[in-house]
Amino acid sequence: MKQVKVYAHRGASAYAPENTLPAFALAMEQGADGIELDIHLTKDGELVVIHDEKVDRTTNGTGLVQDYTLAELRALCADNGMDGFAEARIPTLREVLALVKPGKMLVNIEIKTGILWYDGIEEKALRLVEGMGMQDRVIWSSFNHYSIEKIRQLAPEAATAYLLGDIICDVEKYAAAHGVQGLHPGLYNVKMADLLQRYLDSGLTVRVWTVNGAEDLRWLMGQGADVITNDPKLALEIRRGL
Ligand code: G3P
Ligand code: CA
Repeated sequence: MKQVKVYAHRGASAYAPENTLPAFALAMEQGADGIELDIHLTKDGELVVIHDEKVDRTTNGTGLVQDYTLAELRALCADNGMDGFAEARIPTLREVLALVKPGKMLVNIEIKTGILWYDGIEEKALRLVEGMGMQDRVIWSSFNHYSIEKIRQLAPEAATAYLLGDIICDVEKYAAAHGVQGLHPGLYNVKMADLLQRYLDSGLTVRVWTVNGAEDLRWLMGQGADVITNDPKLALEIRRGL
């Protein structure tokens, strides 16, 4: 059986502020196979890495990301209340890609178009990734499957995955019909009935989020699923023991 992969969710976010350069650098240092991150567009059309539509939860600012220019966002402290990270800022997607480019890490870019719609975000992100020569290391995902459809239309060879919040019947057929190779179910999804085995049997690459507990990590990786975790250090320790 091929070795399962460990993706650092928003970077090594158990140890450093989520979606910041320190969190991604730490994930790399800990030996994660990949990182997961979330993208939005600023008022002046820059691709930035932050989870929420608003800056309120993770920075000392308030309001929507899309109402800030990049320069204005840069003034905010993105330490997410964690001690010792006063210098942390909201990074651009370009900065994160440049940071991890020298290594071999994979990058799961989640397009955050589930709540707000950012016109042209898919093409902009795709062109950036291509321009940096990293298209073979990126997996595109979104809860908004229309965003994935756009990626597929623009770059049919791109690696794509559907994020699953709710259960979709016959999701394997649905993914195959749209040329999507990966499924990203929530941990709560695959704890139901026989869904994990069914997803794994479909031949699609299954990456489960967000798996932080030792027991869940051991179970999922033991079954052959990749994991997206805040704690890549723990996941890698457990994988070594499998
Ligand atoms: O991509 C997996 C996971 O990050 C999806 O949920 O809310 O953490 O972006 P969320
Ligand atoms: Ca995410």
